Amino acid sequence: MAKAKSHYVCQSCGSVYRRWAGRCTDCGAWNSIVEEAPPAEAAQPKGLGVGRGTTLKLVGLADDGRIDPRLETGLPELDRAVGGGFVPGSAVLIGGDPGIGKSTLLLQALAGLAQAGRRAVYISGEEAEAQVQRRAGRLGLADAEVHLATATSLRDILTTLDDGPAPHILVIDSIQTLYADTLDSAPGTVAQVRACAQALIGFAKRRGTVVLLVGHVTKDGQIAGPRVLEHMVDTVLYFEGERGHPFRILRSVKNRYGGTDEIGVFEMTGLGLAQVGNPSEMFLSDRSGDVSGSAVFAGVEGTRPVLVEIQALVAPTQAANPRRTVVGWDSGRLAMVLAVLDARCGLGLAGADVYLNVAGGLKIAEPAADLAVAAALVSSLTDRPVPPETVLFGEISLSGDIRPVAQADARLKEAGKLGFTRAYLPARTKAGQDAGPVRAHGLDGVADLVALFGA
Ligand code: TYD
Ligand code: MG
Repeated sequence: MAKAKSHYVCQSCGSVYRRWAGRCTDCGAWNSIVEEAPPAEAAQPKGLGVGRGTTLKLVGLADDGRIDPRLETGLPELDRAVGGGFVPGSAVLIGGDPGIGKSTLLLQALAGLAQAGRRAVYISGEEAEAQVQRRAGRLGLADAEVHLATATSLRDILTTLDDGPAPHILVIDSIQTLYADTLDSAPGTVAQVRACAQALIGFAKRRGTVVLLVGHVTKDGQIAGPRVLEHMVDTVLYFEGERGHPFRILRSVKNRYGGTDEIGVFEMTGLGLAQVGNPSEMFLSDRSGDVSGSAVFAGVEGTRPVLVEIQALVAPTQAANPRRTVVGWDSGRLAMVLAVLDARCGLGLAGADVYLNVAGGLKIAEPAADLAVAAALVSSLTDRPVPPETVLFGEISLSGDIRPVAQADARLKEAGKLGFTRAYLPARTKAGQDAGPVRAHGLDGVADLVALFGA
């Protein structure tokens, strides 16, 4: 038999190589390839034939009354992000920067479930029991019947849990700290993370437990090491927010049991995370008012309309290459909007420094924000404020047309609820011409916008 060779695994994406290399050709990461012990030889399946396995029991699609209802945590914003509570037996990965509040959120969720009589288990591999207890005390949750342990050995954890009654929910904080003693590699390597996650997901399916795995995020925003993990779990949540802002957004980027891009909004307070039932109100709360360079975008995150302020500053450049700084939006998209405004309206933005900021720390991915961004830019350039009580939405095409976007009615309704009286939107928007208290004005192209706010 040939001698088992060790192999090399990229710690960023899990690609396997036969030789070491400085750079992973799959994900492009440098210095991420590490030698790992050879995987156990899989037994070669020989003569797979008929009649050797067990007969499967085939069932219909109708709920025959055995499907357990979703677990609600008592934190409506969390329940909303996962599509109305956790599905029993599902595996959920929650990623986020260190210090963003993952442990706090999960402790609050477990306490909520425990108070509703569910069996909740919290395994920390990062903090001592006393630290978690102190946090629980600070949050006023010390009385909640959460079962807590500090552990990093997968074997110990599974032994403990398989001995007792199945928990309804289990938190592993974090998956990168666990190790399976069957592998030689260090905790946090792809091999370890994958093996531990697989065993825990197996536990979830076997016992009907919701398993929540905390995953750290690297500087470039990936869940560290195991992108492979995202494929293994049922739901992937990201907990995001800007440092210095109290607002935190829980976003589902994958969900087998609900819509994606659904968000839950929280505020970090001295007493833990507070629910923000009306995010628009919060994002607009300290709006600067009648100044140039500010426009309100009527956006939709998942199924939820959210109004946010977009701030732009256009200034003459001092450098050979003008500066472009974007917070909360895609810089490629900004470059496109600038190019279209220049090419179609001759605004001369190419030679100016441009700063763009989405207030409140929200990250917007919708192309529907184009129009509001363009309005903020033009307003800053001409130093004329956008008319008060105005919202905007619409996608800008390369030809300078303003194209309709989905859910116009929801956007207008939210704007009306918050006291806005005027909306600029794509002229071809079908619905929304009668928008309640909000008067809708259709725009055909960027030239219309420039005529409105420009000099
Ligand atoms: P934590 O949940 O430990 O973050 P993570 O698990 O994602 O690393 O949150 C840590 C931060 O939250 C820390 O900087 C302090 C802050 N915090 C509050 O502001 N209020 C609170 O009630 C708690 C518990 C934490
Ligand atoms: Mg933590």
